[in-house]
Order: sequence, then structure tokens, then C-alpha cells
Amino acid sequence: MIEIAVAISGRGSNLRALADYAAQTEGCHYRIALVIADTDAALGLDFARTLDAAVVVVPRLHYTGREPFERALHKVCTSYAVRWLCLAGFMRILSGAFIAQFPGGIVNIHPSLLPAYRGLDTHRRVLAAGESTHGCTIHHVTAGLDEGAAIASARTSVRPDDSEETLAMRVLALEHALYPRTLDELCAV
Ligand code: GRF
Repeated sequence: MIEIAVAISGRGSNLRALADYAAQTEGCHYRIALVIADTDAALGLDFARTLDAAVVVVPRLHYTGREPFERALHKVCTSYAVRWLCLAGFMRILSGAFIAQFPGGIVNIHPSLLPAYRGLDTHRRVLAAGESTHGCTIHHVTAGLDEGAAIASARTSVRPDDSEETLAMRVLALEHALYPRTLDELCAV
């Protein structure tokens, strides 16, 4: 069983999907030992506190720069001896130095078929470009924004009547299925 940390900044629906999968899947290879948020306003914290996991807020705004913030983050991860760090809507770009210190690795879920549409507002940009397919990608984290090697992806057709909201909902459902399954496989190795 591999102990993992999940880092969030917002509503935490992927955190919930990861936790539900672990609770419902016999032989799941990961356990969420730690949830980290970079703000105490993260809505997912309420759910995190219902889990059998440590919940720690490392408030980014309390630190004068990225380096001290990452030192605090690293200290927390080290004290819970987590092997993988899973970013799930964590709105911070991590430095190469921080990433290199991580024992297993750091993975992220991004709402596009990378390398297309890195960054924010992916659903809006996909619709504006008239794409016919869209989806989500799990990837290794590097210091570049959404740049690390892809591990797995899931796709959906873009429908003529899709709005940003309907497309976002469909991609989010794909994320909720893909992230736990991929992480389970990664931790089984
Ligand atoms: C997801 O769409 C994820 O792909 C992106 O941020 C969003 C987080 O959603 N990185 P949630 O907080 O897990 O609900």
C-alpha cells in the first residue's frame, strides 16, 4: 500500500473521486494519508476532514516567495512520509528543485488532451477553436506549466450544442474515472 498526498486549491471533486475509489476498491494500491491545501478557502477541505487522513493548510499567501512556501510544503510531505503527490486542482506551479526532492513523483490532472490547451480556460478555448474532441490528461509534473510526460488520457466528442458548462461536466466525469484508476496502476508498480 502506497501512501499518497493530494493537493487541492478548490472544490476538491477529484479528491473525492480518489477517496471514493480507494474506499470502494478491494486491493486498491494507494491510501490518501495527507490532504494539503494552499488556502483555507479551498472548498474541498470540508470533505477532506471527513477522511481518515491528515489535513494541512499551507497558506501560500503567508509566504513571501515560492521557495519558503515549497520548503513548508516539503516539510509537511516529509513528516507524513508520502511517496506520491497528486495535484488535483492545485493552482501552483512547482519548481524543479521541489519536484526533484519527491520520492515517487508528482502527478497532475489537466482538463485537456495535452499537449494541446495547457493552462486555464481549456473548455472555452476548445469550443472557440471548433475542436471535435476534448478530454483530460494525467501527466508527470515538471517545472513547466502542464508540460510533463502524459501517463493516461480520456476523451469525449465535442457536441454541436455544447456550452462551456456541459463540456466541463462531461470532462470532469472522465477525470473522476481516470485519476483513481491511473493512480492505482502507478502505485501497483
Ligand atoms: C479539474 O478540472 C482538474 O483537471 C484541474 O482543476 C480542476 C479541479 O477540480 N486541474 P476539483 O477541485 O478536483 O473539483
